[in-house]
Amino acid sequence: MNIIITKDNQELSEKACELIEQQVSEKPDSVLGLATGSSPLGTYKELIKGYNNRGVNYEDVKTLNLDEYIGLDKNDSQSYHFFMRQHLFDHININSDHTFIPNGKAADLEKECQDYEQLIEDIGPPDLQLLGVGQNGHIGFNEPGTPFDSETHIIHLEESTRQANARFFDSLEDVPKQAVTMGIQSILKSRKIVVIASGERKADAIRRLLEDQPSEDMPASALIHHKHVTLIVDEEAYKKVGHGEET
Ligand code: GLP
Repeated sequence: MNIIITKDNQELSEKACELIEQQVSEKPDSVLGLATGSSPLGTYKELIKGYNNRGVNYEDVKTLNLDEYIGLDKNDSQSYHFFMRQHLFDHININSDHTFIPNGKAADLEKECQDYEQLIEDIGPPDLQLLGVGQNGHIGFNEPGTPFDSETHIIHLEESTRQANARFFDSLEDVPKQAVTMGIQSILKSRKIVVIASGERKADAIRRLLEDQPSEDMPASALIHHKHVTLIVDEEAYKKVGHGEET
């Protein structure tokens, strides 16, 4: 794992942006795996700047998002469909037919999972997957205990994840209890993976990722087996590494 430590979230976002732009410039029809949550917000801002100021072209790029809440309509302001349009897609020249996100309102959700996994086969896997890490070590919405060989599936969100994400909703009750997520195996199919983690909130997860034995209790630790992972982490998120186990 290649580790880049940055002084803050801004520098982290610029580095992640640089890697994505490099990917798109080397292969204009790249498939990008994209994430939601607060982690990638700065990166998306930098990508929009790059589109406006450096002429980065997304015309032939395709995107595959990691996950979506079950029960939220694509136009619900809390859905990841809405998030992606609001924070990236509406601001760059990507073709909306090239952007893919699981449908959390599908009538047959099991079929939706199978179809999404097939889609990853058909258009993917991502040349580059951007990934955040949950405070409990989740990637996508793969909660602790998810098998490393899992494909796209329905997951029940941990209470701690719902609480962590409640800040985006009016109240905790509004946070869905389930999601469709690419599985850990699906994520590991990506050719390159860029993991971003910022702030003290992520310090325990980053310490566990870098210091503990890989285990299904820590979904992000599956990344240790992947050949091409870059972890971009700011000083706050890295600060517990090298100080022994926290009490
Ligand atoms: C969310 C998303 C993940 C994200 C993670 C971290 O629940 N499903 O894809 O990486 O949790 O969230 P944040 O970046 O807001 O800390």
